[in-house]
Amino acid sequence: MSEQHPPTGDTSGRPARAHGSTPGPTGRTRLDSYVDRYAARTQGMTASEIRALFSVASRPEVVSLAGGMPNISGLPLDVVADSLDELVRNRGTVAMQYGPGQGDPHLRGQICEVMRLEGIEAHPDDVVVTVGSQQAVDLVTRIFCDPGDVVICEAPSYVGALGVFKAYQCDVVHVEMDSDGLVPSALRDAIAHVQAAGRRIKFVYTIPNYHNPAGVTLSAARRPEILEICREADVLVLEDNPYGLLGFDEEPHRALRADEADGVIYLGSFSKTFAPGFRVGWALAPHAVREKLVLAQESATLCPPAFSQLAVSAYLDDHDWLGQVKEFREMYRERRDAMIDALDDMMPAAARWNVPTGGFYVWLTLPPGLDAKAMLPRAVTNRVAFVPGTAFFADGFGSQSMRLSYCYPTPERIREGVRRLVGVIEEEIELRHTFGTGLAATPVPALRRNDGYDAPGSDLT
Ligand SMILES: Cc1ncc(COP(=O)(O)O)c(C=O)c1O
Repeated sequence: MSEQHPPTGDTSGRPARAHGSTPGPTGRTRLDSYVDRYAARTQGMTASEIRALFSVASRPEVVSLAGGMPNISGLPLDVVADSLDELVRNRGTVAMQYGPGQGDPHLRGQICEVMRLEGIEAHPDDVVVTVGSQQAVDLVTRIFCDPGDVVICEAPSYVGALGVFKAYQCDVVHVEMDSDGLVPSALRDAIAHVQAAGRRIKFVYTIPNYHNPAGVTLSAARRPEILEICREADVLVLEDNPYGLLGFDEEPHRALRADEADGVIYLGSFSKTFAPGFRVGWALAPHAVREKLVLAQESATLCPPAFSQLAVSAYLDDHDWLGQVKEFREMYRERRDAMIDALDDMMPAAARWNVPTGGFYVWLTLPPGLDAKAMLPRAVTNRVAFVPGTAFFADGFGSQSMRLSYCYPTPERIREGVRRLVGVIEEEIELRHTFGTGLAATPVPALRRNDGYDAPGSDLT
């Protein structure tokens, strides 16, 4: 599920309505009487750590540094309202009708213009509109992956994609990142290792810009190298780029897809540049893959929602949407600064974090010996929430780290949130000293602040 979503569906373990609870094989009451009928793939469908947090973290007294919800309070709602009004009045019967499975042709042309900002030359025929880029991750996995196939992901990786890969029973192999993003030599080694074991790698899933959750960006020098490694090994790249236009000081980075049309499927989204509520994203794929994606889209939804597509399309046509993106960037930059300043001022020695150049996230690594997940209940009691690093690994690593989001709270709330978090960390350090399992025995790195990136990959060793 997308991390922004509030909990939906019944994961509470309440008995199914029609059947009630029934005795299980042990004679004890079984809370879900359907339990032995679900498909095997549902075993991979577990609530993400973010979902479990959502209800608590969204209480007003809690400063949530957890969720990755874009802050859309700056959107010109009157402009959008007028445009929706016009859409219903003038094109209502089209907007509320079924549409093409591939998506609205005019919007697909506009999407090509958006991608041109990142150096991509594409034809609207090769674009498939999806219900957010989350659905694009799902459709790509659906058409490529059989149970047991390997998907290579960065370490850490986007929790919503890991959820998809798990649901399709893929095996995720994580590859190390550093302050310049995915490490080419580590990717080469991982591919060789998996292939030598006779396993099939279906794709490398990568978020090159303003990574969720790591906050890092793949350097320009590494981009051709990553493409070359994948080309040589005949491995497809799935480039997920929802944050690409949200750099603070820089021109958009050149997409991987801009230099490799055959070996890359590119995913984009209007969730962060406009609004996630419309649920409009897309996939740009080589022609044959595009055909399969449309078939998969038709079986999933018949067609992406016409109303949302036309609403987004009208916004792009009639409004200075890039000017709005610029405003978003300024707002996020101010929040990033607030978070980094607060961390610099207050975090205890030996905690480390990166300074993102765009997007929503800081990846923070705690002083050695501390466990972010174990700390979370106490943090929430102290009215601050974060996402423990383990949420972003398929294999349980990441316990010493956490993702801090600065996108949503005001700068003042961010500072207060960091103050509360520091209180919890200091208490935790104190406890560990008191009970003798402490930090004293653990070497403390000389550098307090890591302007580069504290590679989560170090958790893998
Ligand atoms: C890396 C990444 N990919 C995909 C998505 C899904 O976005 P959407 O479905 O809203 O386009 C998100 C949302 O947070 C994300 O961070």
